[in-house]
Amino acid sequence: MDDTSALNQTSAAKPALSDAARRFGVLPMPDLAWTPEVERETAHLYEKVKAVVPPVEWPFHAPYVKAINDLKKQRNAVILAHNYQTPEIYNCVADVVGDSLQLAKLAAESTADVIVQGGVHFMAETSKLLNPHKTVLIPDSRAGCSLAESITGADVRLLRQKYPGVPVVAYVNTSAEVKAEVDICCTSSNALKVVESLGVDRVIFLPDQYLAKNVQAQTKVQIISWAGACEVHERFTAEEMLRYRADDPSITIIAHPECPPEVVEVSDFAGSTAAMIDFVKTKKPKRVLLVTECSMADNIATETLGVTEFVRPCNLCPHMKRITLPKILESLVYMREEVVIDAALAERARRSVQRMIDLG
Ligand code: 13P
Ligand code: SF4
Repeated sequence: MDDTSALNQTSAAKPALSDAARRFGVLPMPDLAWTPEVERETAHLYEKVKAVVPPVEWPFHAPYVKAINDLKKQRNAVILAHNYQTPEIYNCVADVVGDSLQLAKLAAESTADVIVQGGVHFMAETSKLLNPHKTVLIPDSRAGCSLAESITGADVRLLRQKYPGVPVVAYVNTSAEVKAEVDICCTSSNALKVVESLGVDRVIFLPDQYLAKNVQAQTKVQIISWAGACEVHERFTAEEMLRYRADDPSITIIAHPECPPEVVEVSDFAGSTAAMIDFVKTKKPKRVLLVTECSMADNIATETLGVTEFVRPCNLCPHMKRITLPKILESLVYMREEVVIDAALAERARRSVQRMIDLG
């Protein structure tokens, strides 16, 4: 289908046709009115988020939710949403939710023609690496990551010159260009396992200096780190955590391993976003201090009402927050922004991601 009339309706902001739009066609922009029909058809979804989305906001979200869910069928598309996406995306339009590793694995299993990444750019690149023949869209390509931006492929080549023969492990929070230069990838849920799987005394571990230190605390393998940091997690401090603990000694503190080691040390548990969710659901603590990105507490709270109370010293990830319902809708209407990776570079980058997945 090639219907460019939708573009003509919005002459004020006429987007250029992407290659994906030429292949799939542009669809008409759906009507976004809040009607009794929209209210009825989205009522079951509002039930899932009513604890964290006020009733006054739902009439703004619901027309987008309905339109996106209809368009997904038309496009044979799936939406992969990271645990840091806002509750209306996470609960109402996502087909798959999870941490970086889960999203990477599920991307590989998808049978859809189109993958829309609810997350940041490196995640969309990972989906494209594992699905070279599918169309991968990111609703806003400016959704970056301070870790991914802290290192380039040229930096990795220099590290290899400085430490000849030392294998390089890259956190998935890196560009495809960096993944193409390294031996294997890891995520926060398998970093220790990946480091120890190499059977060597020393590894280069990049780019997160804090994740590197947190892994170093658990292994005899000597870790050479890079000076990158997550701009969200590096802001938490142990003093802040201890103040919460002094106010309520029974509070359970759980932190992401991108936090500085002093924060992890005063926590009761540290793990990937999926591991943190699992911890809350299985251990059912009464009060939890969730030391990570803000939306995660909202997303867990919808499922643990009346069981766990969340105290939120949270910070927002400005990159994750670039992904919104209106941008997801535009993504599906105009088939933008398509993630394209040079084939030769993708081949090399895929190897390091696949090597991690093959570890199981
Ligand atoms: P997870 O793999 O734990 O979801 O972490 C990804 C991320 O970007 C955390 O800041
Ligand atoms: Fe990157 Fe930190 Fe945002 Fe995760 S939370 S995407 S590591 S900047």
